[in-house]
Amino acid sequence: LWTPDNIIEDSLARLRAQVGGDKVLLGLSGGVDSSVVAALLHRAIGDQLTCVFVDNGLLRLGEGDQVMSTFARHMGVRVIRVDAEERFLGRLKGVSDPERKRKIIGNTFIEVFDDEASKLQDVKWLAQGTIYPDVIESAGSKTGKARVIKSHHNVGGLPEEMNLKLVEPLRELFKDEVRKIGVELGLPYEMVYRHPFPGPGLGVRILGEVHKDYADTLRQADHIFIEELRRADLYDQVSQAFAVFLPVRSVGVVGDNRLYAPVIALRAVETIDFMTARWAHLPYDFLDLVCRRIANEVPNVSRVVYDITGKPPGTIEWE
Ligand code: XMP
Repeated sequence: LWTPDNIIEDSLARLRAQVGGDKVLLGLSGGVDSSVVAALLHRAIGDQLTCVFVDNGLLRLGEGDQVMSTFARHMGVRVIRVDAEERFLGRLKGVSDPERKRKIIGNTFIEVFDDEASKLQDVKWLAQGTIYPDVIESAGSKTGKARVIKSHHNVGGLPEEMNLKLVEPLRELFKDEVRKIGVELGLPYEMVYRHPFPGPGLGVRILGEVHKDYADTLRQADHIFIEELRRADLYDQVSQAFAVFLPVRSVGVVGDNRLYAPVIALRAVETIDFMTARWAHLPYDFLDLVCRRIANEVPNVSRVVYDITGKPPGTIEWE
C-alpha cells in the first residue's frame, strides 16, 4: 500500500542496509528533491550524513539563511555552508551569452563542491536527489536539458574522481510522492511546495552580464512579488512566478527627478508539465499593488512590466 509512511519506513530500512556505517555526502540546494533526500538520510543515518550547501550569490532573498535554519538549526543536520558568491560572480564577469553563463555556473559549482568534499574524510557515498522522471529522461532521447539540469545540480563527474558510490533514494518516486514524503518527514510545507527554481538561479533571470547590484535589485523585486502572491492566496494557484532583471534602461520620474534605470519584468505561468504554459491572468489590482511596492521599495528601478507571453512561443525563463 502506498502511503508516505510506508514509503519512508521502507526507504529507511533500505538506506541503512545500503550504506551501513559509511559516511555519505549530499549537495543540498534547498530544492525539493535534495531537501527530501537530506531529511530522509538524516533520519536513516543521522551524523553519518554531511550536506554541502553552496551559496553562489544567485539565490533568492534570504534563501541561504532559510536552508541553514531549516536543516542545521531545526533538524540538526550537519550542513556545511560555502559562501562562494565572489567566486561565481568573478567567473561571470563580462559574460553575457546565456549558454556560457550556464556552463560557468555549472562548472564553478562542481569546483566549489569538489573543494569542500575533498576536505572531508572517509566519505564513501554521494547521495543524489534523482527522481523517477529524471531516470526516464536521461535514458530517453530528449534534447538534454534535463540531463544538463541534473548533471549541474546533482554533481555529475564527481563520483569517478572521488570514487564515491551513488545513493539515490528517490529514484522510483514521482514529484508529488516526493512532496508527500517531505511533509511527512517534517519539512516545512512552503519549502516542499515551492515553485521550481532553476539550478543556475538568478543567473538566468538577469539578462546579459551578471552584477551583484543587479542580483540585489532582482532579489528584492522578486521577494515582493512572491510575498504578495502568498498574501493574496495566489501562490499555489500559479505554477511558477518570478521577477526578471532587464538591463535596458528606461526613463522614469521619482519625486522631481528623472530616473534612467533598469526594468523589472514579472512572469507568472500556469502549467501542468512545464512543456507548455499559459501566462497567469493575475488580477489587475494585484499587479498594480506589486508594481507600486517594487517602484517604492526597490531603489533604481524605473518601470515594472508583466509578461503576457505563453509557452510557446516564449519559454518560461527569459535567459
Ligand atoms: P523553460 O524556460 O525552458 O523552463 O520554459 C522550463 C522549466 O525548467 C526550469 N529550468 C531549469 N531548472 N535547471 C533547473 O533545475 C535549469 O538549468 C533550468 N532551466 C530552466 C524553468 O524554471 C521552468 O520551470
